[in-house]
Amino acid sequence: MAEIVKDYILDCLKSAFKKAGYDEELASVSYANNPNVADYQCNSCFALAKKYGERPDVCASKIIAEFDGQKKLEVELSKPAFINIKLTDAYLSKIANLVLEDEKNLVKMVEKPLKIVMDYGGANVAKELHIGHLRSPIIGEALYRLNKLLGNGVISDTHLGDWGLQMGLTVAQLEDDGYLEGYFNRGKNKEITLDTLNEEYPKASKRKEVDPKFREKAEAVTYNIQKGKEPYFTIYKDIRELSVKRIKQNYLTLGCHFDLWYGESSAYPYIDRCINIFKEKGLARESEGALVVDVAKEGENIPIERKSESEVQRYKNPMPPLIIKKHNDADVYATTDIATILMRNEQYAPDRILYIVDFRQDLQFERVFRACKKAGISPENQELIHIAYGTINGKDGHAFKTRSGETVKLEDIINMVKAKAEERLKENGIVDDPKLAMQIGIAALKYGDLSNVVYKDYIFDLDKFSSFEGKTGPYIQYTGARISSLLRKGNNDVGKINVELAEERNIVINLIKMYESFNVCYQENSLNSLCLSLYNLASAFSLFYNNVKVLSEKDEAKRRGYLGLSKMVLKALTLGLDVLGIEMPEKM
Ligand code: ARG
Repeated sequence: MAEIVKDYILDCLKSAFKKAGYDEELASVSYANNPNVADYQCNSCFALAKKYGERPDVCASKIIAEFDGQKKLEVELSKPAFINIKLTDAYLSKIANLVLEDEKNLVKMVEKPLKIVMDYGGANVAKELHIGHLRSPIIGEALYRLNKLLGNGVISDTHLGDWGLQMGLTVAQLEDDGYLEGYFNRGKNKEITLDTLNEEYPKASKRKEVDPKFREKAEAVTYNIQKGKEPYFTIYKDIRELSVKRIKQNYLTLGCHFDLWYGESSAYPYIDRCINIFKEKGLARESEGALVVDVAKEGENIPIERKSESEVQRYKNPMPPLIIKKHNDADVYATTDIATILMRNEQYAPDRILYIVDFRQDLQFERVFRACKKAGISPENQELIHIAYGTINGKDGHAFKTRSGETVKLEDIINMVKAKAEERLKENGIVDDPKLAMQIGIAALKYGDLSNVVYKDYIFDLDKFSSFEGKTGPYIQYTGARISSLLRKGNNDVGKINVELAEERNIVINLIKMYESFNVCYQENSLNSLCLSLYNLASAFSLFYNNVKVLSEKDEAKRRGYLGLSKMVLKALTLGLDVLGIEMPEKM
């Protein structure tokens, strides 16, 4: 049975408010300012005093007199008029035992489960994955797991970038370099590997800037692919397959999963219908040969460039229109995004669509969302949310680059964090355990990312992220591994938890906070508070472990209880890490 501490406190407060003659809606509860004297507190008495014309401390006393905490809670007046709330040892014991029984017992589920489509990953076919592709799958995977844990129905779709100019550029370059002769019945194909693509795309991309003829050709090829013309369409499909294999591998290493491996191209069958909806409703107009939709609202503003990532996006008038078809009738980024919304609505009818994409695409999404709302492609009550994340910077405060100033490849990052983990493991006497090193490396990477507020930039500091101490993924894993080792030594002889010591109290209070952080993260679509509370729980355990002799405790019931408490912490930490998409190793 689920036990939600904060809800219980609030219920007790409400009934005391009511009995004391006050509006129960004014009851509120928050964490205590001073954890040494209380666990929670109620600050409502000042507002009550105003409303009822009484002294705040009189209100507080009346409420305390009516308060019935059922041996779970104790209340006390704290000057001038706060109500301090403390959880009794009996209640803390009950909570700890509930988690020991089943770590999901403290999870507060959503009241009404939603159907959610999550759009993250977003790798581009034929291009190599780089550091810019790191945050979306990491954040997306964690939010996916969180939403599932809290009871929502979630479908993830990686929405590959597979319908744009990059495909045409790559194919045009391959053709020029004689790779595709077989497709045109002019001779034999040359073998195309991923390395070929990694060379040909950047080459084409540079070339298009200086060679207008080539650019035109690439645009024509793009058009031919989009219209399904052969042999371009077959070439496209072959390249896509090759590239997607590699993308899948990369995501798998990162521990990121997708229910759907759709791409921009999957929405192709929905494009014509979307365009017709705009035309029929009189929402589209021609502008310099292109088809555009006006999305500006009256009295509103075009985007003002943000000076920092924490600033809210503002707009100056008028917001530029959204192009939905190019002059040559080719599809653009917005075309496939709009069609994808129609497709998702027909296939799943989600209540909410979450896009985990770089903050630079803010304006793009804002306009796509508006266009879809205007056209009724997205129903009025459907939430379209862009979760905009910041940039990964180097220590110099600029986007993280290699020493020679190049973009860092995703695979290189993975190798770097793994190598760092191997170094650290060696210091602990563990060598030749590549699986473990990868688990730790990924933990360093993910926690280093997720511990930041999602929209903020952060500095990629591998040394810091990989440390076995402090606010890092490896520290939490390390705490878990220590508990596993303790349990092994104690023959897993686990008994009922009976909270008595300050160190035990501290653990359970931090445990409750960790569970509450799930709901905070859900509200904020950011995992930073879970990261912090996992750290606090792990620290609380370390304190207990340093101060209390567990295995040498003579009193059998106590020893078994300590082991129970340790196991309980392990279960909670494992659940928390699991939400972050981080594995808990048994040894480290
Ligand atoms: N492929 C895009 C990029 O690299 C990201 C896709 C984001 N999702 C979306 N539905 N537009 O920028």
